[in-house]
Amino acid sequence: MKDEIINVALPKGRLGDNVYELFSKAGYRCEELENPGRRLTFENAEAGIRYFWVKPSDVAIYVEKGAADLGVAGKDILTEYRPDIYELLDIGLGRCRMAVAAPKNFRDDHRRTLRVATKFPSTAKRYYSSIGRDIDIIKLNGSIELAPILGLSDVIVDIVETGATLKQNNLEVYETLFDISARLIANKASYRFKREKINEIKAGLSAAIKERELV
Ligand code: PRP
Repeated sequence: MKDEIINVALPKGRLGDNVYELFSKAGYRCEELENPGRRLTFENAEAGIRYFWVKPSDVAIYVEKGAADLGVAGKDILTEYRPDIYELLDIGLGRCRMAVAAPKNFRDDHRRTLRVATKFPSTAKRYYSSIGRDIDIIKLNGSIELAPILGLSDVIVDIVETGATLKQNNLEVYETLFDISARLIANKASYRFKREKINEIKAGLSAAIKERELV
């Protein structure tokens, strides 16, 4: 359909800026977005695309509920919230991993319930239940590394990118759970009704990603 507009939820921040670069290279540049002022949505009617910035952890909700047709969210968020969406493409940006980390020389004493501090309670619960280990979850919203240092928890389940935060706080990776990167996600109904256009965007992004990898 010619006048079809695809709504895209971009994660605010450096990852979102890089993702927009890829959309732009794929042929979906939007001048309004490059001079934002106080607008919240940015449209290029000719290219049939409208963008808006949302908190990275909210992208999946916008897409699941259909407020956005497409979005870009980290595998960490997708694993934690398991939204009912399609995952279309590994964008390859924002690479890091989900890991259990602990003070150096930590030994797990199975006679005691393990205290786990994390921003990702479902992910942590699922992992420990898969290995049959009893835990207490301590849900925090940031600065997770503080918890074992102050004796609030035994271990943490958190994102490790460079490892610098762990190192500087005398913590180390105890177990890596899975690799993380940003994914292009689609609302299920949108993918059914706007499949052609969405696949065109996906192909454009794939080409832009390949080009980026060659540089
Ligand atoms: C994330 C994560 C770690 C840190 C890992 O925190 O929770 O603290 O980045 O990065 P590194 O391995 O490169 O050191 P974020 O910056 O999102 O802040 P937070 O404390 O609010 O979780």
